[in-house]
Amino acid sequence: MNSNSQENVNDLKDTEWRRYSEPIYIDKLRFHPKHFIIPFHYKKYIESVLLPHGLIRDRIEKLAQEIHDVFQNNELHLLCLLKGSRAFFSLLLFYLNKMNIYSQVKCSKPPYMEHYVRVKSYINDTPNSDGKLSIISEDLDCLKGKDILIVEDIIDTGNTLEKFCAWLEKLNPRRVLIASLLEKRTPKTNGIKANFAGFSVPDEFLIGFSLDYNEVFRDLDHICIMNTQALSDFAV
Ligand code: HPA
Ligand code: MG
Repeated sequence: MNSNSQENVNDLKDTEWRRYSEPIYIDKLRFHPKHFIIPFHYKKYIESVLLPHGLIRDRIEKLAQEIHDVFQNNELHLLCLLKGSRAFFSLLLFYLNKMNIYSQVKCSKPPYMEHYVRVKSYINDTPNSDGKLSIISEDLDCLKGKDILIVEDIIDTGNTLEKFCAWLEKLNPRRVLIASLLEKRTPKTNGIKANFAGFSVPDEFLIGFSLDYNEVFRDLDHICIMNTQALSDFAV
């Protein structure tokens, strides 16, 4: 389906899965960091830039348009998986709210509700060895019977999302869809895919735009590949 279609989420049967936004396929192209502004404290750690900030912003604006097309002005609960999704979530919500005010549709309630959940599963550049996911959140009982959009930074193995979705199902939402800025092409995938996907990226550990390596690099605007010096200097 594309964004011009009149079909919206209310036409979707409960069990049906659909890809509403196909990701841009990123393959071999890398940019030298000298072409971009890199904070001084990261200059010696960046191997290459994979996604410059401007490209990320433009893609998120388009995803917002596609999400807006599907949900229109129906109540939608956006769930931000912290900390990695913070940058994607805030920009996505910014564009969604803009689209809503420009559309001038008369509605008595704000269509987009925001929720924040802290999930954690990575140590260094590998998942937690015990495979457990820690989840800290506000009381989300209000999600019963509601449409939810999980906003995720990256789908890698998919294990975080699989566990999180199982946890969410206990709250009995009406429908759960996923928007992910990145989808990693990895043989370790469990097959989970986003309904709205920004970029399909190669199997490399990525940092920047809120993606971290042991809490470092979240403040970098571009999505980058780090060098081995970073791997050892910031290892825990
Ligand atoms: N970078 C940062 N965090 C992650 C990644 C990644 O490539 N994959 C899963 N979590
Ligand atoms: Mg994440």
